[in-house]
Amino acid sequence: MKNKTDKAEEQKTREPTVENIRDLILDAKKKAYAETDSEPEPELTSTVEWPVTCTVGPGLEGAIACESKIGYVNGSKGWLIYRGYDIFDLCAYSTFEETSYLLLHGRLPSQSELTEFTTSLRERMFIPQTQRLMLSFPIETMNPMSALRLGTNLMRQKQTYRDRDSDTEVGEILATDDDTIPMETRPAGKKNPVFEFLTGLFKRVHPASADALVGSDEIESCYNLIAGVASVAATIGRTRAGRIPLEPLPECGFAGNYLYMVTGKRPTALEERIMDISLILHADHGMNASTFASMVVASTLSDIYLAIGAGISALSGPLHGGANVEVVKMLAEIGDPSNAGNWFRDTTAAKKKIMGFGHRVYKAYDPRARILGPISALLTENDATLKKTYATAVALEAEVVSELGATKKIFPNVDFYSGIVYSAMGIPRELYTTVFAVSRVAGWCARVVEYLENNRIFRPRALYTGTFDEKYIPPNER
Ligand code: ACO
Repeated sequence: MKNKTDKAEEQKTREPTVENIRDLILDAKKKAYAETDSEPEPELTSTVEWPVTCTVGPGLEGAIACESKIGYVNGSKGWLIYRGYDIFDLCAYSTFEETSYLLLHGRLPSQSELTEFTTSLRERMFIPQTQRLMLSFPIETMNPMSALRLGTNLMRQKQTYRDRDSDTEVGEILATDDDTIPMETRPAGKKNPVFEFLTGLFKRVHPASADALVGSDEIESCYNLIAGVASVAATIGRTRAGRIPLEPLPECGFAGNYLYMVTGKRPTALEERIMDISLILHADHGMNASTFASMVVASTLSDIYLAIGAGISALSGPLHGGANVEVVKMLAEIGDPSNAGNWFRDTTAAKKKIMGFGHRVYKAYDPRARILGPISALLTENDATLKKTYATAVALEAEVVSELGATKKIFPNVDFYSGIVYSAMGIPRELYTTVFAVSRVAGWCARVVEYLENNRIFRPRALYTGTFDEKYIPPNER
């Protein structure tokens, strides 16, 4: 039996505080490394001789399309590494701003670079013109991911060089790609003035060059996208709730501002930290479908806003980023931990996949789920409904892992617990996938910029298995 001191200690570590979250992540790291210790060490390489030989499965499984120094996923070890840094360490110690800088620039920023970058992102979250343009569309009734793609494209409001019809006379300089259309900032005596944006609060200041890339068009666009997609996503959430869009607060960081702009409530330090961790966790993940989609579009030398729009489109599907919404629906359908066993047996008998489980790459426990699982335990402790949802998730996980863990290497993936975490922070279910996108923009941008340095248009082949000798018969004779 536990004595009183043990119980008090256990209670203390389970209290949701910023410090306890760090300990919890470092504990999860220890557990992860201990569990996969016996897996063989990966063979790493720093040089590649092209062309490479690899075995390719359907859906390009196993295909090697490029080299990258951005991120590494090891499915059997359960490792996720950004630019050499372990995801557990980044979640324990870093912020989304710092992690985005790391992904984009390949190194951690100095203190002054970090301050400058954080300020720059906050300023770029201020997108009143885009918000106004968005409000002229029915975004409150659109699928949030479609609205996110629309808003992302609307952020780039001036014609760019690539938009030009080569025969058209263009009378102005065409290079600007940010939130640039000057608009009325105060109601000017119109009959029904609705919105007033406090444009004086933020003044756009571009950072001085910190290294060769800063200041280049691509990097400026990446900064605009990382910051702006968050504001676009928040605008969608607010509009769906029948509220006016909000501006970022000068005193909040990226995660805090994003949460504030979605929920309308100033987040607590704990909520801000958990959102920060969620954003870090989702920022990059190898050549997944949405990253690949962005890179394919960028490889045609299309525009980076359109490339990120392609990433958003790919992420919206239920087999990718849309799975977290499906998980929460599924847990609601199961209803109670005691139903998990029967539900699991019925579902597998019907040969249906269980949302939030399985992964193309991870054949061990997804490190992101290792972090989000304990965080959801902590966050749901004081809410009876969410506590039951969490307990149902734990019961389902036990069923799935005991049945499919050893045989098929099926474990929870990142989407299994993320919805519970978002729900505990007041984010509506239909916005979960947009949270994923807000974070992944950093990875998409980093990978697109890296790929463009040695660009080659993507062009895989399909094996033709059709016929050759069909004779055309006119419609009226068929
Ligand atoms: N539930 C039950 N069985 C599963 C699951 C699952 N979630 N995932 C895979 N399996 C089984 C398959 O039935 C298959 O079994 P079989 O060999 O007996 O036919 C085997 O595991 C391999 O499955 P594949 O579908 O071939 O694996 P693939 O790598 O193609 O798919 C995917 C990966 C799409 C993620 C899949 O596991 C799945 O659909 N999961 C549910 C959706 C989900 O959670 N998606 C989020 C992924 S994480 C992300 O995108 C951020």
